[in-house]
Amino acid sequence: MNKNSENISGWKKFMKSMTKAHDLGTEEDIMLDHDYDGIKELDNVLPPWWLYGFYITIAISAFYIFQVFYNSENYSQTKEYETAVAEGKAEVEAYKEANPQLFDDSNIVALTDAADIAKGKELFTSKTCTACHLADLGGSIGPNLTDNKWILGGDVKSLFNTISKGGRPGKGMIAWESTISRDERIQLASYIISMQGTEPATPKPAEGDIIWPEE
Ligand code: HEC
Repeated sequence: MNKNSENISGWKKFMKSMTKAHDLGTEEDIMLDHDYDGIKELDNVLPPWWLYGFYITIAISAFYIFQVFYNSENYSQTKEYETAVAEGKAEVEAYKEANPQLFDDSNIVALTDAADIAKGKELFTSKTCTACHLADLGGSIGPNLTDNKWILGGDVKSLFNTISKGGRPGKGMIAWESTISRDERIQLASYIISMQGTEPATPKPAEGDIIWPEE
């Protein structure tokens, strides 16, 4: 009796039906005539488990073909994308509405807390502001930030705006809003305000026509 037709039951039987594997030792039955330098080829059937998976993907594709040709009004990649973007935008709007103080720059006030000022001072060094304004804010490439003459304004909102958006084009003061967080920019502006009237070692001559604080 051929080994392949032996009576087997249960799980083994199931595995057998899913793989249709040919028993070892009886390969001659399915050996092809080809002989490639001694390498031989067996004519195995496609394993049914694989084939069924393949049929399932074909069945699922019918669903998508239907969507593409008959239901693209309601369902398409573009639609799906647009829906996701709209949902995302709605979430952002809702967040803005729930946290107005984070987005409305007209509400910014100078911080006076010692911890915030200390953080601002630390940021002034770590974010390389000192390279152009010096550690005592006396100014070198950038203007002196301790006097009451300002090119772009010395009140907290103007400072915040300058730090966020940068100075006049080509002057060297870049926009920091993409690299320094909003809270940190407020801390920096507050630190600069706290340094008003201090006396730097080598102050740069006053620049700018805006006087703040007003005399
Ligand atoms: C590469 C040099 C450079 C660096 C770095 C730099 N600044 Fe400036 N900054 C300038 C220059 C130049 C100006 C003048 C801009 C103008 O004339 O429009 C300026 C202007 C300013 C002003 C406005 C001054 C005024 O008179 O209105 C503030 C405030 C300021 N910088 C803060 C900062 C802070 C805070 C940092 C660090 C996050 C920083 N700067 C980093 C060069 C620099």
